[in-house]
Amino acid sequence: MCGIVGYIGHQSAATLLLDGLQTLEYRGYDSAGIALAPGDGAFRVTRASGKLINLRNKMDAQDPATLGIGHTRWATHGRPTEENAHPHRSADGKIVAVHNGIFENFLELRKELQTLGETFSSETDTEAFPVMVSHFMKAGLGFREAFHRALGRMEGIYALACLHADDPDRLLAARSGPPLVIGLGEGETFLASDVVPLLRHTRRVIFLEDGDIAELTRTGAQISRLDGSRVERPEQHIPYDPVAAEKGGFKHFMQKEIFEQPQAISNTLLNRLPIEPGEPIPLDLPFSNEELKALQRIHIVACGTSWHAGLVGKFLIEQLARTAVEVDYASEYRYREPVIPEGTLIIGITQSGETADTLAAMKEAALRGARTLAICNVMGSTATRAAEASILTHAGPEIGVASTKAFTTQLAVLTLLALRIGEAKGTVNPAQKEELLQGLRELPAHLEHLNALEPQIMRWAQKYRDASDFLYLGRGPLYPIALEGALKLKEISYIHAEGYPAGEMKHGPIALIDKNLPVVALMPKDAHREKTLSNLQEAAARDGRILGLVTQGDHGLDGIAEDVLELPDVHPWLAPILYVLPLQLLSYHIAVLRGCDVDQPRNLAKSVTVE
Ligand code: AGP
Repeated sequence: MCGIVGYIGHQSAATLLLDGLQTLEYRGYDSAGIALAPGDGAFRVTRASGKLINLRNKMDAQDPATLGIGHTRWATHGRPTEENAHPHRSADGKIVAVHNGIFENFLELRKELQTLGETFSSETDTEAFPVMVSHFMKAGLGFREAFHRALGRMEGIYALACLHADDPDRLLAARSGPPLVIGLGEGETFLASDVVPLLRHTRRVIFLEDGDIAELTRTGAQISRLDGSRVERPEQHIPYDPVAAEKGGFKHFMQKEIFEQPQAISNTLLNRLPIEPGEPIPLDLPFSNEELKALQRIHIVACGTSWHAGLVGKFLIEQLARTAVEVDYASEYRYREPVIPEGTLIIGITQSGETADTLAAMKEAALRGARTLAICNVMGSTATRAAEASILTHAGPEIGVASTKAFTTQLAVLTLLALRIGEAKGTVNPAQKEELLQGLRELPAHLEHLNALEPQIMRWAQKYRDASDFLYLGRGPLYPIALEGALKLKEISYIHAEGYPAGEMKHGPIALIDKNLPVVALMPKDAHREKTLSNLQEAAARDGRILGLVTQGDHGLDGIAEDVLELPDVHPWLAPILYVLPLQLLSYHIAVLRGCDVDQPRNLAKSVTVE
């Protein structure tokens, strides 16, 4: 949601900022804008509603200004119009600012400033900030002091970047909530909401902490706190290959990211599998065996796809570590006054590490005494810095809004974690552990095999593209995959879809079944197979069009299903990682055939930083 970029250096800022915003498009937005500071006392501000191309078409890409800030806006306060797009200016035109977050007291501040004679031209909460800075400057403060003073008046959350028209050598930024990263170059310094726009220019970055204020110049950045005290933040090196965030020959990021899953899972597992049989899982956790053994219960909090990973995690942890697990939507957990007895671990699962609800739920649990662990894909994100411990999924940058490789790598991490806790508790049978570890080692090859089935999935997509509803069914650890399959289809193709435990179908959803309803059935050869099969016979008896995903060589759906896809025979607890891939591809191809914007579906944002 909302993206910020900033640049101060020696190159033309216009193209650099436009390209930076382009790489942030995946976060979701509905308008965009850029302010360039040529250093002659006035800004050149360009804004446009809709896609970035509208902004690009209005700007002079050769503009010589070497200082500027840019923004993609996902509307919260005020419609997605050009007037509400950022950057916002003070009435005298001397201050511009871009903002990610919400100023909760903006109405109050607006009234106060209006009483003092200041004027406003947008409906946004953000505009209060440049107006406030300008107001303090009129009262005699310098730019930096006015910036500090204005921040002191703001309530809510923010990532901010701000410029003064008469100060061509300084870009001010502040963070309290949404992330901001500084990129360090040679004679140039960059600012962005995440590392993706920085990768083309530098791998040397500094993550700002909550409450930090940064002053960026052409030679680097100085960081201070609101009280004016100086702080040092470590410079970090980002290991990603810049091409990891490019489409690389694929039509969409989502397709590329689906195909990257064999490599992504290999990266997740790298150095985390024991070399010799019987060795402990080398999962780097700051909890001792004694602490893991003492865990009485686990609460998992997450949203969307990550919540589905949590449901699979519950299954794995309860099976392998015999520890009770509750899985909650983070947005519910944070407000339901959860009961957190001693010995509770809270696991926040979030690919972005910035989801406001998940962060708040984790914070709530920590305040009530829980130990905290984040499972996350983004190094340096808020979740990884707020939790006591974190496990990175190492999926690489995920740009498509619909999560794919971040999900399967979360499942791989949860399998390792369940084994690790089970080891500490002595609940894992060694033969079972070896079988699962071997299964994990073989996963990348199986995923490669599934990618090769894309032509068959494309034929399914062609056949079922016009359906108005889909039903997804699964049991045990495949039930969350039914939910995930339905979510993927809804998100990117806008087709209504529901996921259900197959055994629950007769308690309601069976009423939906008729000759027009595709029923996607997940039926690996596991302990639930016979039960699922009889549920599917019930669906077939009512003319449901069954698309079955089964274990290689299983002919149980012959004569029942209209289409069958055979998948490799894997340990049933690893089946979720495999069975989701064809569902991702099916959603992808249906969405493409229906002409949908696959990577940036309507109304959705990649990281949801508001409630
Ligand atoms: C996934 O396809 C969705 N776009 C969405 O449900 C997402 O999983 C959810 O917003 C949680 O995001 P997070 O993992 O970054 O916390």
